[in-house]
Amino acid sequence: MNIVILAAGQGKRMHSNLPKVLHPLAGKALVAHVIDTARSLQPQKLCVVYGHGGDAVRSAFDAADLSWALQSPQLGTGHAVQQALPHLTGDGTTLVLYGDVPLIQAETLRRLVLVAQHGLAILTVELADPTGYGRIVRDVAGSVVRIVEQKDASEDERRIREVNTGIMAMPTSCLSEWLGRLSNTNAQNEYYLTDIVGMAVVAGLPVRTSHPQHEWEVLGVNSKMQLAELERIAQRCTAERLMEQGVRLADPARIDVRGQLACGRDVFIDVNCVFEGSVLLDEAVEVGPNCVLKNARIGAGTRLAAFTHIEDAVVGPDGVIGPFARLRPGTELAEGVHIGNFVEIKKSRIAAHSKANHLAYIGDAIIGSRVNVGAGTITCNYDGVNKFQTVIEDDAFIGSDTQLVAPVTVGRGATLGAGTTLTKDAPPNTLTISRAKQVSLAGWKRPVKKAEK
Ligand code: UD1
Ligand code: CA
Repeated sequence: MNIVILAAGQGKRMHSNLPKVLHPLAGKALVAHVIDTARSLQPQKLCVVYGHGGDAVRSAFDAADLSWALQSPQLGTGHAVQQALPHLTGDGTTLVLYGDVPLIQAETLRRLVLVAQHGLAILTVELADPTGYGRIVRDVAGSVVRIVEQKDASEDERRIREVNTGIMAMPTSCLSEWLGRLSNTNAQNEYYLTDIVGMAVVAGLPVRTSHPQHEWEVLGVNSKMQLAELERIAQRCTAERLMEQGVRLADPARIDVRGQLACGRDVFIDVNCVFEGSVLLDEAVEVGPNCVLKNARIGAGTRLAAFTHIEDAVVGPDGVIGPFARLRPGTELAEGVHIGNFVEIKKSRIAAHSKANHLAYIGDAIIGSRVNVGAGTITCNYDGVNKFQTVIEDDAFIGSDTQLVAPVTVGRGATLGAGTTLTKDAPPNTLTISRAKQVSLAGWKRPVKKAEK
């Protein structure tokens, strides 16, 4: 089997500098959805027809199993498929997909290809409002006779509600012959792929229709409005799949998964959370409202409180993170770690049962077990040019408002007094304090305002 993906159209109505098929849906380019679905059918040849100026499309997806056919200028869907012909194997079936119809399901395509084994197969749907689509014209016996485009259709034909979704499959050998015979004498002066239907009928080849399981599978994207509608449909599907697997969602309409989200048993996700890239939530993880997680692994039983932001990080089991915590790339938290509000962590490892509960910056640090990081603690990891590491060993206690000027090590069991600016290593099991001794001056008076002269 060959698969041809038509993606040369301009997408004028998107009003964007980005080629239409590169606009993201559920975090992935429109055409990438189609390419991935096409791949799952394991075609022998997979060819994308791209447009002039669409080099961005080509460079975004170049892969060994894809071939690329440039269509310039764009003279219609038939002309587009013609450009792909040299890239196809001559026998078997060719399936034509649209790069801007991203939600088409593999199962629907499998059924269409089966129907095409003995002729031409068209994926059609009945629409309440068929305006704009090519109509499926049938004879009195109900056999398909041809497809007529909206702009070429008569009054009667425009009343037909069965439309061409654009997705078709046919024997490749016939395709090349028919495409050579297309003409552009029609209302749009285009070479219509749909004209091959009439040719198949004349040649006596059976023409059959097949239908998608869901109408949304064949919805196309021509505008930002339609893009947003499809996004909601895609998100709804993901939410349903998660719930079927046992995930509890506070509101399936208020979750956005822009990538892969894998969940263990008894996971709960509150409203307005965004998951990007690859995210794994282990058993019984609870995600509070308004959290953003990108490329993250969260251990079993961990609770992420509201407004937690996590990117390229690993959180161990039984942790308590947030509200308002930020875990940046390279953060690795072991089990039972507590990270509280307005704590930012970057490229740091924190061992089991350590806590940083309030207002801290921890960057380029290695922190042992059972360490307590006081409020307002800052690792001064950057001298303006280079980054340096801070090491805090097991059972250390870091007093509030401490600055750790890296590179520096706090020994096992050490205590740093509040307000310490640590510039040299702190020995283990010792109190280190850098502030001046507190004094009270008896007899000191507040200044008084001078009388004006
Ligand atoms: C086409 C069908 C119509 C069908 C409708 C479904 C034809 C003649 N008409 O109409 O029967 O109901 O789709 O949406 O086929 N493309 C190219 N090169 C071109 C022209 C188009 O690659 O020269 C691509 C577009 O990027 C798009 C797809 O083909 O992905 C369909 O093009 P579009 O212009 O939307 O086709 P319609 O006129 O809407
Ligand atoms: Ca269209």
